[in-house]
Amino acid sequence: MQKKVTKAVIPAAGLGTRFLPETKALPKEMLPIVDTPTIQFIVEEAKKSGIKDIVIVIGKGKRSIEDHFDANPELEQNLEERHKTDMLETIRKTNDMNIYFIRQSHPRGLGDAIYTARSFISNEPFVVMLGDDVMQDKVPLTKQLMDSYQQTGASTLAVKKVAHRDISKYGVIDPSEEVRPGLFNVKKFVEKPSPEKAPSDLAIIGRYLLTPEIFGILEDAKPDASGEIQLTSAIDTLNRTQRVFAHEFKGARYDTGNKLSWLKTNIIFGLQHPEISTGLRAYLKDLGKQLTDEDAKKKK
Ligand code: UTP
Repeated sequence: MQKKVTKAVIPAAGLGTRFLPETKALPKEMLPIVDTPTIQFIVEEAKKSGIKDIVIVIGKGKRSIEDHFDANPELEQNLEERHKTDMLETIRKTNDMNIYFIRQSHPRGLGDAIYTARSFISNEPFVVMLGDDVMQDKVPLTKQLMDSYQQTGASTLAVKKVAHRDISKYGVIDPSEEVRPGLFNVKKFVEKPSPEKAPSDLAIIGRYLLTPEIFGILEDAKPDASGEIQLTSAIDTLNRTQRVFAHEFKGARYDTGNKLSWLKTNIIFGLQHPEISTGLRAYLKDLGKQLTDEDAKKKK
């Protein structure tokens, strides 16, 4: 019987430079997907997966994340008086979670952000959920990793096939045998390889289940050329002393950390949103026609 996984770390202390100027004063993790901050989706996924305790790693300019997860008695009272039960439910969704905050003093990379949570995690397996990566599937991806851990007792990373031209944006696995459908043994974990050198098109995406031995490795880790402590390199080191698996995610992934992908995510979620789906669909159809006509004119 494996230890139960009950804790999650959500790193949200990065600079978000791909989203400047918005991220000068506002965290990208608070950018809305239609009407809900991205990080709210991550916390809800943790709740649906059975996680009880969450620590969110924050940094400068990230205070609105704390405010968002704080109870708001005046607002709740106001909504109660006006019988706005749907809205009340929406804002209370994660009130029953234990959410804590730690500060990463300088954004020294994902590995360093995870290391700040070592006392909170102590000697237990835990999950890492990136604050800008939204996943959708029947069974939440975090729960899929937790189920896999119950069988193997080993660290397991979520991976997904990405377009070969995009591979250099990711940590990538060099898989060996598939031990059961969708679960790979891994020879090597490589951070941001060039497309020519990438060992596969299986990219590490924003969910990890890690054993606490990762902290000893992060403690000794040296910053890379860009001054960041890379989580991928620490996981590669972990893989030399204990098994680390890769679990292929078949659901939908929405990376909200860059402009185009965030905008696409808003359109997809908008089309599913009961309040705006009809209006948005009609608008997109019109826009589609208009763009086709414009392209046709240009070709003439
Ligand atoms: P990213 O690399 O996507 O975020 O990290 P970033 O560094 O903020 O973005 P760019 O590249 O400058 O645009 C994935 C997650 O890890 C967090 C980020 O906040 C994001 O949610 N992170 C990253 C930290 O918490 N600390 C860090 O030092 C780096």
